[in-house]
Amino acid sequence: MRSVTAVANPNIAFIKYWGNCEADARIPASGSISMNLGGLETRTTVTFNPELEGDTLNINGQEAEQAALERVGGFMNLVREMAGNKHFAMVESHNNFPMGAGIASSASAFAALALAATRAAGIDLDEGDLSRLARKGSGSACRSIPEGYVEWLADGCDPDSMAISIAPPKHWDLWDCIAIVHRGHKLVGSREGHDLAHTSPLQQARVSEAPQRLKICRKAILERDFEAFSDIVELDSHLMHAVMMTSSPRLFYWLPGTIAIMQAVSSWRQQGIPACYTIDAGPNVHVICEGEEKELVEARLRQIPGVIDVITAYPGEGTHLLI
Ligand code: DP6
Repeated sequence: MRSVTAVANPNIAFIKYWGNCEADARIPASGSISMNLGGLETRTTVTFNPELEGDTLNINGQEAEQAALERVGGFMNLVREMAGNKHFAMVESHNNFPMGAGIASSASAFAALALAATRAAGIDLDEGDLSRLARKGSGSACRSIPEGYVEWLADGCDPDSMAISIAPPKHWDLWDCIAIVHRGHKLVGSREGHDLAHTSPLQQARVSEAPQRLKICRKAILERDFEAFSDIVELDSHLMHAVMMTSSPRLFYWLPGTIAIMQAVSSWRQQGIPACYTIDAGPNVHVICEGEEKELVEARLRQIPGVIDVITAYPGEGTHLLI
């Protein structure tokens, strides 16, 4: 029995994924751009065992709940089909960052699982195929496979949609200072949220203009243009939240602390401190800045009433094996 361990970072989207053309296969309605979050990681070990009567899943030393086990079991079936292998597997996963802190653990979880499970089953996929496979576990997981700054390509509901690196981690010293205002799990998970996106009258406009936003964001990253980057990142986050707030039923993720941070970051920018924010499907705020401002931004965030903690991350590597 061969055990294989893989390591993956979560990622933060600068241009968001929200809504699918095809929900089960996670074919996104539009492309997205993200940065892997170095320093935060999921380590997953997979061991196939002919004596097991079902897959087992242990997360952070505890047996996982049924829903998580079923999601992982469904994913393992894809790997078994690819490998022509009928055996069940023991899956053990550890996160070094708190779960339910607004950092999507499903991205790093399914990226690490895709690599560990395929290698344990004896298959060696190239980066594109690994990204496609990870996508089927969790959409954003496809972006955690390549290194650094990543674009998830999604032209015209392409069934082969996958992510590629657009710049290596060292290209730009950006930091994500994640201001935690609430530690609980999200009330409505991303999966249900994606299914509601089309009920918003704003989603069509958001999706049809995504190619322009992707182009502006890609260019800003390649040219390390923080001003252009800030404008497009905040616009894209606002557009996604506008869709969430106008879905039916509506989704509203912000808390008073969320808004306090958004206002503070805007005023810092007016004072000449280059920082901008983006918010996922939860109340915590990802404040992005360059390395030079990181200490100042982190210290200032900690002073805002309602901020419980700040977690920082830098541009991360791609998913890799632990040898
Ligand atoms: C708001 O990838 O978590 O973070 O495919 O259902 O697992 P599933 O959804 P997920 O959705 C991420 C949504 C987001 C925006 C983003 O990361 O692009």
